[in-house]
Amino acid sequence: MSGQKTWGGRFTGGTDRQVEAFTESISFDRRLYRHDILASQAHARMLGEVGLLTPAEAERVAAALDEIGAEIDAGKMTFSISLEDIHTHIERGLIDRLGDLGRKLHTGRSRNDQVVTDLKLWVRDAIDDLDGLLLDLQRAFVESADREQGVVIPGYTHLQRAQPVLAAHYFLAYVEKLQRDRDRLADCRKRVNVLPLGAAALAGTSLPIDRESVRQKLGFESIARNSLDVSSDRDFALEFVFCLSLIATHLSGWAEEWVIWSTTEFNFLDLPDAFCTGSSIMPHKKNPDVLELTRGKSGRVIGALQHLFVLVKGLPLAYNRDLQEDKHAIFDAFDTVAGCLSVAAPLVRQTKLRRESIASRIEDGFLDSTTLMEWFIARELPMRTAHELVGKLVRECEQRKCRLVELPDEAFEAASPGGGADVRAVLGVANAIAAFRSYGSTAPAEVERQVREWGERVSG
Ligand code: ARG
Repeated sequence: MSGQKTWGGRFTGGTDRQVEAFTESISFDRRLYRHDILASQAHARMLGEVGLLTPAEAERVAAALDEIGAEIDAGKMTFSISLEDIHTHIERGLIDRLGDLGRKLHTGRSRNDQVVTDLKLWVRDAIDDLDGLLLDLQRAFVESADREQGVVIPGYTHLQRAQPVLAAHYFLAYVEKLQRDRDRLADCRKRVNVLPLGAAALAGTSLPIDRESVRQKLGFESIARNSLDVSSDRDFALEFVFCLSLIATHLSGWAEEWVIWSTTEFNFLDLPDAFCTGSSIMPHKKNPDVLELTRGKSGRVIGALQHLFVLVKGLPLAYNRDLQEDKHAIFDAFDTVAGCLSVAAPLVRQTKLRRESIASRIEDGFLDSTTLMEWFIARELPMRTAHELVGKLVRECEQRKCRLVELPDEAFEAASPGGGADVRAVLGVANAIAAFRSYGSTAPAEVERQVREWGERVSG
């Protein structure tokens, strides 16, 4: 079979079958075929422009590549490990169709710059897909913020009741995280969008190729300056999978929160039946499997990032075959995150807050104590003194088994003579919420403005 190989001349014997099976990548890099064809068409047309092919030859190559693309689309291409990877399969298809003309396509190029060009084109599309999925999830959270306006929920630190927050404020917190995820991907895209093709094997080429023409055809923003660097540069892949890891981490934290919030103990959420499953033995169960799997799958994505770090650490310049192993991590991390985002958006849309259950316990847990402390501070008590004072009031409440608002006026008199009646204006959760005023806080006017602004930003 050595005649089938792209390196046939140097070898007399064929490749060991086990080695073929060990070294092949066609089983997973076939996924790059569309991008490989696009890059090859740009390359061929450039060869036609600089005289390494005639313009007519270049068009014949481009047309044959379209045919090969259609053959793969239709599932008609036979893949074989003896042809190793997607690049060789497509080149072989071209040679089968065009003979010697097909044998010219690889002029001024190597699989080393080819594979990283394909991968960058693929990642660029993946980033654009992810942006759409993230936007849709943002919309779902903004819709929830809009629907639940006015609803107050407990805010937690250490998973202990801390201060009250508007539900809309809570939903918008996730919109912010997702916006950072989108911004990060957009930033990563800049480094993805640098053309490697033309680096050839590692040193460039003595042939008169025109990289600027290829850049334009493939829509890259700029051209990699150093062939030695770019032929093995996978920084963009690590960055991309880092972005994915952070998205997965955001989703995992959210999923954990909603798993807890949907328990009988919390009873904050009504998860849609369509996104839960039952138990094969316990008839009453409604399990939050989608959320649990979202939490669990984050491990795969973070694992993919470790995979890539260990893969590239210690690789000398330039291409080393180790790099073939990058694709498993990139593809799996993308598929996993895209899958999680796709189910997250409808799940958020169909989940309702259990308003009555939340309201029935909203006055528990001294959510108004910090606002009370601030009330004393505003009346010129030193912060530490006010903190201690309210701490003592909370202790008194615990002894009396009552809420702050239920303490008699005298309890507040010591600290603020004559203020015992006024103080009630900040006690209780509704009053506490109304007292907030800082930028970015849960102050009703602030949150209302942000719901409006986000609504405009994510619409259309
Ligand atoms: N299948 C290879 C990969 O994914 C393509 C590049 C092969 N280059 C080489 N010199 N063997 O990395």
